[in-house]
Amino acid sequence: MRAKRTGAQAQTALITGGSGGIGFQIARVLGRKGFDLVLVSRKRDSLEAAAGQLEGKYGVKVHVFAADLRRTETPQAIFDFLHHENIPIEVLVNNAGFGLLGAFADTKLQREMEMIQVNIVALTHLTKLFLPGMIKRKSGRILNVASTAAFQPGPLMAVYYATKAYVLSFSQALAEELRNSGVTVTALCPGPTATEFASSANVGKSGLFAAFGIADADDVARFGVAAMMQGKRVAIPGIKNKIIAQASRITPRAISTRITRIAQESR
Ligand SMILES: NC(=O)c1ccc[n+]([C@@H]2O[C@H](COP(=O)([O-])OP(=O)(O)OC[C@H]3O[C@@H](n4cnc5c(N)ncnc54)[C@H](OP(=O)(O)O)[C@@H]3O)[C@@H](O)[C@H]2O)c1
Repeated sequence: MRAKRTGAQAQTALITGGSGGIGFQIARVLGRKGFDLVLVSRKRDSLEAAAGQLEGKYGVKVHVFAADLRRTETPQAIFDFLHHENIPIEVLVNNAGFGLLGAFADTKLQREMEMIQVNIVALTHLTKLFLPGMIKRKSGRILNVASTAAFQPGPLMAVYYATKAYVLSFSQALAEELRNSGVTVTALCPGPTATEFASSANVGKSGLFAAFGIADADDVARFGVAAMMQGKRVAIPGIKNKIIAQASRITPRAISTRITRIAQESR
């Protein structure tokens, strides 16, 4: 599916964390389809570099909004900016997120509170703000980036796994509420993927990252956007990840939790 045009204006996709990693690759896939783009992340120079690349390659309009999603006022500021510029959002990609490896008793509370703010609160807030316009237009796509971490508890990354379980559960419930509304919600659940995530979460050392092989961010993005365009509710890229998700449904919770702990422990 390509972006529709109204006069000179193409449909617009908003991507949080659109300057790097999976978010940038999602922006590329959507730019290739003709969507104008709004990229949000903290570092203006990375945003502008990403925007220059996308505009040059796909000839679409790219707006950048430099802001920190750890701040509670950021979602409203993004919404107000786009409202002021009269840019309706057809595609919302809640991608920005991060993790943290370590025993909960030892990790920094502040980092985990920020993680909950970015991974859960900002995602929920942005959805709340942009959904009414989509419902009114009877058209819209929401892609929430969860993880295979959503399918079972994750000892040594307890808060991160729990945030992703929230993203999956919230997305599936909302998708059902929006049945027949013209608006779809897709939870993308990647496994380990080659981005900056591993170094920022310090999970490069985790056995899980080593054991499962690392996917290409471009493949994950193409898979996620295709699933979103088809209105699929859950998108799990890669056969190994599908097996993990399926196995976690039939394995007793205590056992899958124990297995995840063993896999998660440093080599
Ligand atoms: N990589 C994996 O193995 C993996 C696996 C499963 C799920 N995921 C999920 O995929 C999503 C994207 O991760 P990624 O691997 O692409 O990570 P990444 O390479 O670290 O990229 C994160 C992006 O989010 C932005 N960002 C980070 N913190 C932000 C904040 N506080 N406010 C605004 N923007 C912020 C970053 O730009 P700035 O630093 O400039 O803000 C960057 O554009 C996350 O939700 C992650 O949990 C990743």
